[in-house]
Amino acid sequence: MKYSEENYKRFYGRVVDVSSYGQPVEIVRRIPQLLAGGTVLDLGAGDGRHALYLAAERFAVKAVDISQAGLDKLERLARESQLTLKTLLADLSQWSIDAEYDVILSILLVQHLEPASALRLMQETKERTKPGGVNAIELFTCTGDRPALSREEDPDFHAFYPEDGWLRSFYRGWEILSHESSSAPLIGKTRTDGSPMSSVVERLVARKPNAH
Ligand SMILES: C[S@@+](CC[C@H](N)C(=O)[O-])C[C@H]1O[C@@H](n2cnc3c(N)ncnc32)[C@H](O)[C@@H]1O
Repeated sequence: MKYSEENYKRFYGRVVDVSSYGQPVEIVRRIPQLLAGGTVLDLGAGDGRHALYLAAERFAVKAVDISQAGLDKLERLARESQLTLKTLLADLSQWSIDAEYDVILSILLVQHLEPASALRLMQETKERTKPGGVNAIELFTCTGDRPALSREEDPDFHAFYPEDGWLRSFYRGWEILSHESSSAPLIGKTRTDGSPMSSVVERLVARKPNAH
């Protein structure tokens, strides 16, 4: 999709002392109960609410994002909290996962990618997770008001927005540790009656089966 560093630079600059999206999401907060440490890859890490949280829980974290502003802030926040982690500036529509990880996160990322790139990255996310390792994924679906938006109203018209339920079926064969869908507002979009538009977010934590 059309990525705008200017928009993210402004967004990540708005609050200085903490990550801009607030507290880690619930599905990431569960991870320390599931695994006692290990390696983490945070895809589309932004300014690091999840990377910082898991680094503080003694995971070895690598945070990847296309936003220099996000990663600069993440590195500064890590330094200020005396946390060690790695960052990598990369366009995930081009980048291939570089190693096997115990944990891979993809939180509110794939709506920025074209369907073919998103599917390739999601497939690699599963493949490059170690047996017994965990994925935590949160994505916007097209279920809800989104299909009512025209190409002109929706800058992400061509992006990856699967149907609600797609994520669960994508992880068939893995142990589903938690799965939930709920409605979230489409920021700034209203229906003809003036009420806010909404769209379903699907979230899941799944464990890869151990090899036999
Ligand atoms: C909605 S934010 C979510 C950030 C973080 N996962 C969180 O939950 O706090 C989406 C992030 O994806 C990043 N992003 C968008 N397109 C990308 C791309 N092609 N490659 C890498 N990162 C990308 C943006 O820079 C942004 O930091």
